[in-house]
Amino acid sequence: MAGKLNGKVAIVTGASSGIGEATALALAAEGTKVAIAARRTDRLETLTKRIKESGGEVLSITADVADEAQVREMVSKTKAEWGRVDILINNAGVMLLGPIFDADTEDWRRMMNVNVLGLMYATHAVLPLMKAQGIGHIVNISSVAGRVANANTGVYNATKWAVGAFSESLRKEIHKDNIRVTIIEPGLTATELPQHITNPETRTRTLTRYESIKALDSEDIAAAIVYAVSQSAHVNVNEILIRPTEQEG
Ligand SMILES: NC(=O)c1ccc[n+]([C@@H]2O[C@H](COP(=O)([O-])OP(=O)(O)OC[C@H]3O[C@@H](n4cnc5c(N)ncnc54)[C@H](OP(=O)(O)O)[C@@H]3O)[C@@H](O)[C@H]2O)c1
Repeated sequence: MAGKLNGKVAIVTGASSGIGEATALALAAEGTKVAIAARRTDRLETLTKRIKESGGEVLSITADVADEAQVREMVSKTKAEWGRVDILINNAGVMLLGPIFDADTEDWRRMMNVNVLGLMYATHAVLPLMKAQGIGHIVNISSVAGRVANANTGVYNATKWAVGAFSESLRKEIHKDNIRVTIIEPGLTATELPQHITNPETRTRTLTRYESIKALDSEDIAAAIVYAVSQSAHVNVNEILIRPTEQEG
């Protein structure tokens, strides 16, 4: 498949739905060989079929990013298949909003393990390869919630703040190795994300908020990611913040 990213190899975590799925499709359409990772194998199989049908190259990897060994295997499987990794899209995430006061602290552990540690494990696993290649690009999906904190969103905010701090430090550490780092900060995007909120009241309130405006589509974020990774090697798009036009805060 010919495109502006012809021959590049990417890993997309959280590719079984939403932004990750749209990004895998968009990268494949530009000629990228894409390793798609998530826990739901059936969803990955459907996506694999779609990418192959449109002439793309794809590798499906069932992996839980909260498990460091599985993340390392995700990277080594991709290297074994295509010999390199040019782009890592750290997209897997959960948003288990709710008050701090009576929270189920298991929600906190899940958010920290997936949104923060999972992203760190994947970054750590690709860095030696990218350094040896002399080129690489790591795209970390944060959120407007990585810049604006509200009541009842504190731990999700903390995870996305962590993504911002980690990414900026990482950029300073590895820019001399010709490895770029981009932070993507989406606003409300119509995906499955709010459906997983375990606190019923917060889930209802959040779903109502998503439905009250014309939210972004996953494809809008995928287009921003493709923009960032398609620039010349000397151009490092550090940060993209995208809100729906109707979203105020
Ligand atoms: N939607 C929004 O409004 C919005 C706004 C700002 C930022 N974001 C961020 O965008 C990213 C993608 O979310 P989305 O909106 O596209 O939601 P989504 O449709 O729920 O997708 C989340 C993805 O993460 C994967 N995932 C969750 N836990 C995982 C784990 N332990 N191991 C591996 N993969 C895991 C899910 O796959 P499996 O369940 O199959 O593992 C799924 O593919 C997240 O980081 C989210 O915080 C979303």
